[in-house]
Amino acid sequence: MGFDAPTDSEEEEAAHRWEWDNEMNMGIPTIDADHRDLAQRYNALVQVLFRNGDPAVFEKCFRSLISQVRRHFAYEQRLMIDLGYKAHDSHAAEHEKLLNEAEELTRRVRTGAEKYDCSALVQYIKYWLIEHIVRDDRKLARFLHERRSV
Ligand SMILES: [Fe+2]
Ligand SMILES: [Fe+2]
Repeated sequence: MGFDAPTDSEEEEAAHRWEWDNEMNMGIPTIDADHRDLAQRYNALVQVLFRNGDPAVFEKCFRSLISQVRRHFAYEQRLMIDLGYKAHDSHAAEHEKLLNEAEELTRRVRTGAEKYDCSALVQYIKYWLIEHIVRDDRKLARFLHERRSV
């Protein structure tokens, strides 16, 4: 059984999409590419939710997004350690927080996706990632830029 189709799927999908804003670019090519990739995977997830509606496909896309988030976080953390970034611990703690929550969200998707409000779930992940990018990752990018110019 699919998800209950929203009354206006196209509008719902548009409202949930993560439109890339150049303000989110950090000027660090590896990090920017990862962030754009996360936005694309997120949009693919939203598309499945509002167009395909198959919970199994949704779960697969959801897992794929989370595993890329995990890989990206590990990359940033390695970079922070290698370059002696002072705020590594608090930044890594933020990453850990989302990954722990993602565990719980994945469990909910698996056990009762049609009952659970998946649109709220994807919105939560989007806002979390955007807030983290513009707040914590931006500070990291500033450090990387300063380090390069020394
Ligand atoms: Fe980060
Ligand atoms: Fe990041």
